[in-house]
Amino acid sequence: MKEHALFLLAGFPAGETEYREKADWFRQQFEEALAYVVYLADGRVGREALRSEEVITEFTEIAEQQTKKLTGIPIDIRITQAEKRLRSGCPCASDREMVQQVQMINQRILWLLNGLIAFKENILQNVTTCNLYTTNYPLLIEHIIREAELYRQIVAELEQKGCISPKDLKSAEVFWNQIMMEHAQFIRGLLDPTEADLLVAADTFAGDFRLLLEEAKRQDCRAMGELTRKTLETTERYRNFKAAGTEGITSCKVRSVILPLLADHVLREANHYLRILETPICWEG
Ligand SMILES: [Fe+2]
Ligand SMILES: [Fe+2]
Repeated sequence: MKEHALFLLAGFPAGETEYREKADWFRQQFEEALAYVVYLADGRVGREALRSEEVITEFTEIAEQQTKKLTGIPIDIRITQAEKRLRSGCPCASDREMVQQVQMINQRILWLLNGLIAFKENILQNVTTCNLYTTNYPLLIEHIIREAELYRQIVAELEQKGCISPKDLKSAEVFWNQIMMEHAQFIRGLLDPTEADLLVAADTFAGDFRLLLEEAKRQDCRAMGELTRKTLETTERYRNFKAAGTEGITSCKVRSVILPLLADHVLREANHYLRILETPICWEG
């Protein structure tokens, strides 16, 4: 969410002071919340989540340094360094004080998410009626609204029930195949027109995920096995494409208008999706 706020901030013209200030406020609030969550998470986070590289990748720190330099927007890189040092462990040893601290930060994040979602909806409304300019595509704004809504749903469920009821694999695949397809569409649109090979590759992935999305929508949960294997294989290739792209952007070998942090952000989301796909459960929806 702090990166969504940064992308929004970076996309507004200098004259849009109100929108810029608001985006910057959300960026700061989510950055503070993240720093606190990382502090609370040390020794309690799942081994698989750490191993998946959804929290940080080998490019995150350099992508942050470059994005900070290129946009002039502050990024607290110490949080990423703390994420690098995170240790896994069982949350079962948590005391009452810890439970209270988690409840408090969850409530704060839910409140912030309501505000950020409303802000993104306001931006989308004004952009699509041509009353506001931003370098971010309307589809990107819709995309980050859906991601924030999913996050809000997860935190709200944790607060209400104390656990997340496992999402059925089908709705997870429908959600994330669409997210992966849209990433490919953004990448295609933000690459320099001369990057012919990368444009074709991005287009191909957009098409692949469109087909997987349509197939997942048609599937019955019990018959998901074969489709999930296919999705996993495509997402692995896609993650490697995104990693190569992030490497190319952070080492200035790719011509584009993609912020290094956006490249790393979509790479981490692919890593997150891979962990979901690799969790071998098929739950009835
Ligand atoms: Fe995102
Ligand atoms: Fe995304």
